[in-house]
Amino acid sequence: MPTSPSGFRKGLTSYGDPAFSQFLRTAFIKGAGYTDDALARPIVGIINTGSGYNPCHGNATELIGAVRRGVMLAGGLPIDFPTISIHESFAYPTSMYLRNLMAMDTEEMIRAQPMDAVVLIGGCDKTVPAQLMGAASAGVPAIQLVTGSMLTGSHRGQRVGACTDCRRFWGLHRSGEVDSAEINQISGALVASVGTCSVMGTASTMACIAEALGLALPGSASPPAVTADRLRIAEKTGATAVAMIGANLTPAKILTVHAIENAFRVLLAIGGSTNGIIHLTAIAGRLGIAIDLDALDAMSRETPVLVDLKPSGSGYMEDFHHAGGLGAVLHELRPLLHLDALTITGRTLGAELDALRSPAAGAPATTTTRIVRPRADPVFAEGGIAFLKGNLAPRGAIIKQSAASPHLLEHEGRAIVFENAADLAHRIDDAALDVTADDIIILKRIGPIGAPGMPEAGYIPIPRKLAQQGVKDMVRLSDGRMSGTATGTIVLHITPEAALGGPLAAAQTGDRVRLSVRNRTINLLVSDEEITRRLASEKTPSSVDPTTRGYLKLFLQSVTQADTGCDFDFLRATTMNQTAPARRR
Ligand code: FES
Repeated sequence: MPTSPSGFRKGLTSYGDPAFSQFLRTAFIKGAGYTDDALARPIVGIINTGSGYNPCHGNATELIGAVRRGVMLAGGLPIDFPTISIHESFAYPTSMYLRNLMAMDTEEMIRAQPMDAVVLIGGCDKTVPAQLMGAASAGVPAIQLVTGSMLTGSHRGQRVGACTDCRRFWGLHRSGEVDSAEINQISGALVASVGTCSVMGTASTMACIAEALGLALPGSASPPAVTADRLRIAEKTGATAVAMIGANLTPAKILTVHAIENAFRVLLAIGGSTNGIIHLTAIAGRLGIAIDLDALDAMSRETPVLVDLKPSGSGYMEDFHHAGGLGAVLHELRPLLHLDALTITGRTLGAELDALRSPAAGAPATTTTRIVRPRADPVFAEGGIAFLKGNLAPRGAIIKQSAASPHLLEHEGRAIVFENAADLAHRIDDAALDVTADDIIILKRIGPIGAPGMPEAGYIPIPRKLAQQGVKDMVRLSDGRMSGTATGTIVLHITPEAALGGPLAAAQTGDRVRLSVRNRTINLLVSDEEITRRLASEKTPSSVDPTTRGYLKLFLQSVTQADTGCDFDFLRATTMNQTAPARRR
């Protein structure tokens, strides 16, 4: 029986003569010094996202070396290749604008080049989602290796790390408590090494999600970037990739509804980033799995936050690793997880947790600590994220309640409205701005299409004059996102967005707004008739400006809203035939 081609015989370039295509390919690769023995091995592609513009991936070269060692020890041939790399602070207009481009690059280069399995090396916020989305669609056995978190630094005896402390110190600088000389000094202490942000921001959340999905090795989410543990994980990742080839462990076999549910459960329990909701929704959408936000909210109400890391808590990723990492969380969540979910090791999640608990594996993953709490003594009684609806957000909005001010979770106030990011930048620090700490700040048109790219501008600054009076938090609303490292009583992802004529566009300064996290509502206290009247006079673009070209045109024509992951419509599965999480009876 003919078997499908593998190794260098896969995906031959089209010259009209397959034998010639094979001959030519072999000739070129031999030019790089390979022997016939090497070329007969199963091939593991390794995606190299190292870039001078991406310090979060500054250890990529060392990781590739360790992955190569693992592949060769297991009898495979490693070949690394580049794709786009995205760093949060070096991507204009915003990294989210480029996530889908990276996902397309990842998918097409996995499909175009001959490889039997692929190791995805990513780390910074948008890179892991992009790689998981692309790999899910490419359909080749794939394993995620994250670069790992950076080390923490020290400022005047105080432990600091990116980027919750970046925002805290910048807030102190805006209020005048930290002067220019000190803020410059702090910029040299916040990022103590290469690697991803050292708190439970989006990068750390996505590292935990990759492990919870079963697409990364058990124990791989937490080792910091510059440790021997990280390199050992890399070597094991290479060896595991070779083993996945024989079992043909494609992403579709691992990314089941149960795996997606496990990942959401973990996201809620670690106090993970709000961005993780969008990314996981996009990953699930590649496999035809739609996300039910009401069921997700029900899951949130029964899932306590167990991890005491910033921004919801106090610790850093190094502490999380020393406390047993995600394995300790999974043990504590065990009764709430689908233990039958398959992982890239070929074993189920339940079997992996049993193995972690065995005496030979050592004990830390079974022990709860100050950093990883028992379910009976959580950091926060409910999941970190609450899902809201109301006349301002008919298709939903979210708030990271674990990082909000408890006294603002039930709040009614006067709206102070900014029409877009430029309006905000122009007026927020105006001494004449009529604003009090009880008001609710609304920022429109920073959604997927409005900005475009849904920037992290949802972390709206406290007006300077209030910051100088000591105001640290206010209720803030937008159709944008915020960094996973940020804190505050901030409602995000309001859907549909204002630029598409969503009800947010109707809000005006002076309106009353009510937020009730207890009731999961966000409402503009204006009649339906008045909202309809205001929206009728709103100018919303019905089509993309004909002078728009290139990727921007593709983006504006194709990007979906937050409730479908902001993926491009043509990249999602053609039919959504499953839903997660399952509704509880
Ligand atoms: Fe890369 Fe935070 S900037 S992980």
